[in-house]
Amino acid sequence: MKLKSIGPLQGEISVPGDKSITHRAIMLASLYNGETVIYKPLLGEDCLSTINIFRQLGVNISITSDKIIVDSPGYEAFQEPDDVLYTGNSGTTTRLLCGLLAGLPFKTVLDGDDSIRKRPMGRIIEPLRQMGVNIKGNENRFTPVVINEGTLSNINGIDYVMPVKSAQVKSAILFAGLFANSEVRITEQDISRNHTELMFNQSNIDLEVDDNKIVLKPLSIDKLKMHDITVPGDISSAAFFIVAALIVPDSRIVLSNVGTNITRNGIIEVVKMMGGNIEVIERSVNAEPVSDIIVSYTGDLKAITIEGELIPKLIDEIPVIALLLAHANGKSVIKDAEELKVKETNRIDTVVSELNALGYNIQPTHDGMIVHGQSRVDRTRNIFDSFNDHRIGMMLAIAALIELEPIEIHRFEAVNVSYPNFLDHIKQLKGDL
Ligand code: S3P
Repeated sequence: MKLKSIGPLQGEISVPGDKSITHRAIMLASLYNGETVIYKPLLGEDCLSTINIFRQLGVNISITSDKIIVDSPGYEAFQEPDDVLYTGNSGTTTRLLCGLLAGLPFKTVLDGDDSIRKRPMGRIIEPLRQMGVNIKGNENRFTPVVINEGTLSNINGIDYVMPVKSAQVKSAILFAGLFANSEVRITEQDISRNHTELMFNQSNIDLEVDDNKIVLKPLSIDKLKMHDITVPGDISSAAFFIVAALIVPDSRIVLSNVGTNITRNGIIEVVKMMGGNIEVIERSVNAEPVSDIIVSYTGDLKAITIEGELIPKLIDEIPVIALLLAHANGKSVIKDAEELKVKETNRIDTVVSELNALGYNIQPTHDGMIVHGQSRVDRTRNIFDSFNDHRIGMMLAIAALIELEPIEIHRFEAVNVSYPNFLDHIKQLKGDL
């Protein structure tokens, strides 16, 4: 894939549905005995992995261009699968399903691609074992993961102080907790994305949240009642175009219907801290707030430090935020972000290797990076790599939009994981392909 720029981005797009919310909607709708329509879902590869697994368990799922219809016999009628459940590249599918499958009275095996096989699963195996789940991972901490081998699961409650800042871990415990015979209590250090909590509440489940503490009542699964769900646009996908509009001279774009949940809107805070031209107009607030975002080129961006409780609110956006910081005046710092090392790739390494080869000046640190803004030199190569990481592929494509000479991006098809129509949207906003 070769990409360069010939000019400003102008116009309006609606980014695809939120990946985290689409996964959770498919999972909860599949547990429920009845039909649920999920409007405007993400139909990226990660969510298709989740859909295929529930089909293997006996759930009827049909897909059209703008909706998923989940017609389920309910979890009590799920069939024991006769094959491994393949989670592809999807960490959310792998981790949340470890929790959900723990509630089912048969053995399942989860496994994914090469990247998933390297990602830490001990973080979910540990609390699930404390809840009485019979779960084993390769070397106790990787996939393949085997759940409920030889036991009929009897899940206990747990009082768990989260050692990692991870919504996937929190949500795995909450999905297992739906089947628990006593209360589940979770305390987070810094609040991570809360889509599971909001969707549980919307689906008649008794879950209380007080600041960083969550309490889920026993056997909540018995109360589950689904309503149709409309998925907001994914702010993690919008982030690429927010940054594009800020760094490509004379750009002005509108991103409509983007989810602006407070646990996810760190990129907006960052752009405001940097003095970027951004306006957020809230359109509706049901379970999840939805806004239009108007963003335009800003020539004079301030360097900033991003740390602490802001990190979980923008963890997936850091690759493209690093590119943005490289256009600011002076030295910016990203810290407290060691979780970057265990994403689809080690994103400290992949961001630094690819942006520095483009001529930017970024120093890796043990928990983030130091970005020296506006200190660009010539590129050292013309061929770049996504390393099969969708967000690295898209970061490179946005970086290309200000390159006069084209750059080549290998393994660009990785973007299909979360943003299958990414290139169409660049075309629509008039970037040159
Ligand atoms: C996600 C949580 C985050 C995020 C991932 C999606 C989720 O991961 O990086 O893309 O849907 O819960 P962690 O919970 O591991 O931080």
